[in-house]
Amino acid sequence: MMNKKAIYHRADDFTLLHGDCIRLMSEFDFKFDMIFADPPYFLSNGGISVQSGKVVCVDKGEWDKGGSPEHIDLFNEEWIAECREHLTENGTIWISGTYHNIFSVANKLTQLGFKILNVITWAKTNPPPNISCRYFTYSTEFIIWARKCPKKPHYFNYDLMKLLNENKQMTDVWRLPAIARWEKSQGKHPTQKPLALLVRIILASTRHGAWILDPFSGSGTTGIAASLTGRRYLGIEREKEYLDLSIRRRVELENGSIVKSYRKKIRDIVIADGEPEEADIFGVTDENRIQDLPF
Ligand SMILES: C[S@@+](CC[C@H](N)C(=O)[O-])C[C@H]1O[C@@H](n2cnc3c(N)ncnc32)[C@H](O)[C@@H]1O
Repeated sequence: MMNKKAIYHRADDFTLLHGDCIRLMSEFDFKFDMIFADPPYFLSNGGISVQSGKVVCVDKGEWDKGGSPEHIDLFNEEWIAECREHLTENGTIWISGTYHNIFSVANKLTQLGFKILNVITWAKTNPPPNISCRYFTYSTEFIIWARKCPKKPHYFNYDLMKLLNENKQMTDVWRLPAIARWEKSQGKHPTQKPLALLVRIILASTRHGAWILDPFSGSGTTGIAASLTGRRYLGIEREKEYLDLSIRRRVELENGSIVKSYRKKIRDIVIADGEPEEADIFGVTDENRIQDLPF
């Protein structure tokens, strides 16, 4: 049973838990249609870059400091196994990373019985420079998309993805900019993902009204993208500072004109709005519509 003190924010469609995701996920029973996870990449080892003309350390925080390969493997195994318990039989999981963690994540997904569907390359159109000039500029992140059961068909909005790609099949290379300034109006998180990336993931793999879990919620980007697209969200995060930032971001959406202006800034939403699948809130199954979190 989950300690009620872990509930940091509770609303019908946007709930946040405070604490360690591996422990908290083991304490409640609920199945989600989709999980997005942006776990520690273990890349904070004193590297440097340039921001606004200044040399800065790119360390993200204590939670991102590198461990041994064995430690990284064990951590990935533990949290992915818990996620598996919280996916519907036809549900899918998306996990982001860089070379520091993504190979371990792929191995663990396969060992735990998932079927890998795609590895998306997010090619950043505006990457930060590499100031050492001794190797190529890092400009990509990877996002593995996998389904729980090798034999149970998953949901993929193929037609919408094609439409978003000028009526050509959407490829696994997504050219999207890094985070924009307007997305940080309520404060900063060192590894905040852009809303455009999460919106595409949500539109591709869920129907209106779906339940989405993010075990490493950070600034709540997945939840904000869920709210902007009419999905329901549970986020888990260890740091109160980031939970408070997530709540501020969610409260901001109580202002209808802000929602309108954010939706207009995200090209995929603008295009999807004209589509029956997105306009049709009855795409949700009855069973799904009446489900609610057990706390
Ligand atoms: C890469 S960031 C996620 C950023 C998020 N996608 C966003 O857009 O803001 C990972 C987050 O996971 C949190 N975290 C790390 N280990 C955790 C754990 N075991 N349980 C819950 N949260 C954790 C960190 O505090 C950090 O905010």
